[in-house]
Amino acid sequence: MSLCEITLPDPSNILYAAQLLVQGKLVAFPTETVYGLGADAENTQAVASIYQAKGRPQHNPLIVHVADLAMAERYGVFSDAAMQLAQVFWPGPLTLVLRRRPDCAASPLVSAGGETIALRVPGHAVAMALIQALGKGIAAPSANRSGRVSPTLAQHVVTEFAGGEPGPVLVLNGGATEIGIESTVIDGTGKNLRILRAGGVALQALQQVGTMDETVLPEQHKSMLLSPGLLESHYAPRALVRLGITSLRPGEALLAFGPTPFHAPVMRNLSPAGNLEEAAHHLYAYLRELDQPGTATIAVMPVPEEGIGVAINDRLRRAAAIRT
Ligand code: TXA
Ligand code: MG
Repeated sequence: MSLCEITLPDPSNILYAAQLLVQGKLVAFPTETVYGLGADAENTQAVASIYQAKGRPQHNPLIVHVADLAMAERYGVFSDAAMQLAQVFWPGPLTLVLRRRPDCAASPLVSAGGETIALRVPGHAVAMALIQALGKGIAAPSANRSGRVSPTLAQHVVTEFAGGEPGPVLVLNGGATEIGIESTVIDGTGKNLRILRAGGVALQALQQVGTMDETVLPEQHKSMLLSPGLLESHYAPRALVRLGITSLRPGEALLAFGPTPFHAPVMRNLSPAGNLEEAAHHLYAYLRELDQPGTATIAVMPVPEEGIGVAINDRLRRAAAIRT
């Protein structure tokens, strides 16, 4: 049984959290997307304990959170195109995968032994204060057990790590995270920028700035739609997930979007008004709330494939993917 304390993110607790990071311990903290499970990115043992706490495969690299562009440049090599995106979208829900600098002090484990490093400047005062107090990058995946629903509340983090491997010793409580869905991950190592994961920054916003390789995302989506079973299961509640419903079956819990003709004893509406930002904000908390022991299946109404709806649908498809 791991002991994990939730505290207010006041300056003294943030300083204490930074001291815990210096000692190689794990601290969970809020960002504008989801809660992160943080470790000193330059301490290999601490980074190793992230993988252990999450049960995360060693080949899946971690995002290093930095305070600003200057700190990012200590770790990664920016192409002109990547620099342009950083200048427009940082701080914010955008992660850039770059080549590691030859003198990069981040643990090789954050890169899963590879030559690239994922960097992001989070748009959240608590995350920012914690990074500044530590004075170096914080490696942080979402603060959930691997494959499970990401946490958008401090209490979600505690629930994830109750009774399992040693988890975070402290959670800085920033309340509900604003965006509610993870950052957009961009491969900035090549000539063209490529989207690796849909997220808080929409494709359209990216295209207005950088030379996006437009073919990547739509193609990926086509294959996901044709064959969701091929997807790696992720973001998964314990109940099964049925997508794009046109009718409701007896006993199903309902995750609605917009005005709904369906009524279920157990239901949540992501956004009665049909607002996609609101839906992203509620998505993970509602999946958790619907995922009760008595619920075998969560039925999900269609969500439009536009703006942040692309990221919402990506997460829902992974939640519905075949679990092995
Ligand atoms: O919003 C977010 O991105 C949150 C908050 C805490 O910042 N973090 C997050 O981390 O979602 P995680 O570990 O759950 O997801 C990171 C994603 C994974 O899909 C991982 O494979 C990818 O980023 N990634 C990390 N480093 C990479 C690298 N060097 N090359 C390619 N992909 C990388
Ligand atoms: Mg995650």
